[in-house]
Amino acid sequence: IILTQDDLKKIAAYKAVEYVKSGMVIGLGTGSTAKHAVARIGELLRQGKLKDIVGIPTSKMTHEQALSVGIPLSDLDSHPVIDIAIDGADEVDPYLNLVKGRGGSLLREKMVEGVCKKFLVIVDESKLVNYIGDSGLAMPVEVIQFCWKFTASKLQKLFEESGCEAKLRTFGEKKEPFVTDNGNYIIDLYFKESIGDLKVASDSILNLAGVVEHGIFLDMATTVIIAGELGLTVKNK
Ligand code: A5P
Repeated sequence: IILTQDDLKKIAAYKAVEYVKSGMVIGLGTGSTAKHAVARIGELLRQGKLKDIVGIPTSKMTHEQALSVGIPLSDLDSHPVIDIAIDGADEVDPYLNLVKGRGGSLLREKMVEGVCKKFLVIVDESKLVNYIGDSGLAMPVEVIQFCWKFTASKLQKLFEESGCEAKLRTFGEKKEPFVTDNGNYIIDLYFKESIGDLKVASDSILNLAGVVEHGIFLDMATTVIIAGELGLTVKNK
């Protein structure tokens, strides 16, 4: 059988849901991989194989999906401690650092996944990179709308030596700015070369006024479940 990329995402997601036990508070990720985990949790609840689950969604989209599959929901205000969070990623480096946020939900994801006892990342093998930024895909930064061009140019300047290009994320034919669940814009950073020390990069991005959060998830994943043509690999921190 030839497995599609979506099959691989589903295999990784189902594996992650095996870690979920009745009575747990679960951080529900966002994206085309995480949606399989959300659907699976809903299915197990309906079958009575899981009970007393509380889901903490990381986006409006996941909130809606989780409601539609019957997962009781809450938020960080009421449930500040999360047992397990399950989410996809755009890049995973050999140390299990991540890039997230191509779906635009990085801020809520970082809040929820930053307070979980276990953070399970589910990916197909195409997400593995040698170093963060290596995929050539966007590294997202959520910024406030006010003078976003100014913030974008500051961001580009920060990573000048890495050949950084900063672009406002848009959507649709009219190329309207993409607006996050929090009412902010996304500046996507593209690099020609490595951005070097990730902690330094993270701190310098967060130091810019106008920046709300970025998509580098440093030292947060506890387990990465990778589905590939040859089967599943589980990497633990
Ligand atoms: C959402 O903002 C993202 O962080 C996603 O978790 C990430 O982009 C992975 O998405 P896919 O599973 O759709 O590739």
